[in-house]
Amino acid sequence: MRLSVVGCGYLGAVHAAAMADLGHDVVGVDVDARKVAQLARGEAPFFEPGLQELLLSGLRSGRLRFSTDPGALSSADLHFIAVGTPQLSGRAGADLSYVDAAFAQVLAHGKDGDVVVGKSTVPVGTVERLSATVGDDDPRVTLAWNPEFLREGHAVADSLTPDRLVFGVADGARDDAAAAGLAQVYEKPLRDGTPLIVTDWATAELVKVAANAFLATKISFINAMAEIAEATGADVTQLADAIGHDARIGRRFLNAGVGFGGGCLPKDIRAFQARAVELGLADSVVFLDEVDKINLRRRARVVELAGELLGSTPGRRVAVLGLAFKPDSDDVRDSPALEVACALRAAGAEVVAADPHAAANARARDPELVTVDSAEEALAGAELVILLTEWREFRELDPARTAQLVSGRRIIDARNVLDPEAWIGAGWEYRGLGRR
Ligand code: UGA
Repeated sequence: MRLSVVGCGYLGAVHAAAMADLGHDVVGVDVDARKVAQLARGEAPFFEPGLQELLLSGLRSGRLRFSTDPGALSSADLHFIAVGTPQLSGRAGADLSYVDAAFAQVLAHGKDGDVVVGKSTVPVGTVERLSATVGDDDPRVTLAWNPEFLREGHAVADSLTPDRLVFGVADGARDDAAAAGLAQVYEKPLRDGTPLIVTDWATAELVKVAANAFLATKISFINAMAEIAEATGADVTQLADAIGHDARIGRRFLNAGVGFGGGCLPKDIRAFQARAVELGLADSVVFLDEVDKINLRRRARVVELAGELLGSTPGRRVAVLGLAFKPDSDDVRDSPALEVACALRAAGAEVVAADPHAAANARARDPELVTVDSAEEALAGAELVILLTEWREFRELDPARTAQLVSGRRIIDARNVLDPEAWIGAGWEYRGLGRR
């Protein structure tokens, strides 16, 4: 099929490359000339395992290209909208201006019979609103929403072999032209048995925000238990293991620590609340306010623990291990790790941070942040070590060897991924979050 993808960020770049890999002719369109040039050379503009290879193979096959020219959209019959929906400045709601602009662009360059499919995370009611903007002079397009569930760090596999597909089409009609187009786009994963749910527009929009709200709630639930565990001498990791054996609960996304961040979960739960307020349904999602507050308290707790361990913070050398919002990503949007590093610096600590891939992005947000290339350099002379992003190389640090690098054996394991006994055995003062 001839496809276009409007927006080539974390979502769109991966989606475009994945669609070419499935055998389609794909043009990715973005306003950012630098990003388009990088993608056209086969360079991933951000760190995502496997993306570079996927881009190169798509470009070599001749099925994948990138352009800044919206006119390129006219070569496609099905258009994906994959632009960002960031949080509005100073408000909880989502900024839909990029979605609106992308839709207008597709209408301007599309033709009768084209299918327009949104992938961006949007508040419920957006597709209805967009469809109402189609004027008499615009091409007769069919509109659908196909939410994306990819996780950064696993985006390539999640795109090529999704765990489910959701097609939100007008009135949920399976014989809708967009449903037929999408069934062709995803012919391979559907043949391989990927579950498909065909819904109406509103359900598809809600599926995405509900999924992220549920994941955020699960993490904040276990972090709330961590607060209780800290006060009562219980151990939240054992608690998570024990309740996680119940298949109805499940162990995944029950890792207590410094909490969730990134470009999705935090802004999505806020946008969901803002939309509920507009709908007069604030009470239905009021719990998400607590989910957000519990999450942000975990960041403050790490800063507080650092103060407790050091006695006083000003002038003290702190090694921060990790700046990305999660491992296998260079994304620092709303990163708990970066926020803790900045808060400690603001409190007067001499923070030296290391992250295998996110240091440059972190410095772009906070130019005064001192970053080094390796954990060893960050650890040299540190009076306190804080593990904030569980990259494998940090998880595998040897306590005895690490002890030789630092000037004070104090460690906060803000992701609860280290073996406390091994660290305590090597003479470290160890603190996890919600751990004995
Ligand atoms: C999330 C969803 O998981 C994806 O399904 C969704 O497609 C995506 O948002 C999106 O809306 O685009 P992502 O932001 O890549 O994906 O990251 P997650 O793997 O969900 O992790 C989010 C945060 O939660 C990270 O900061 C991670 O460290 C934290 N986390 C995760 C915990 O603190 N504890 C856990 O047990 C799991």
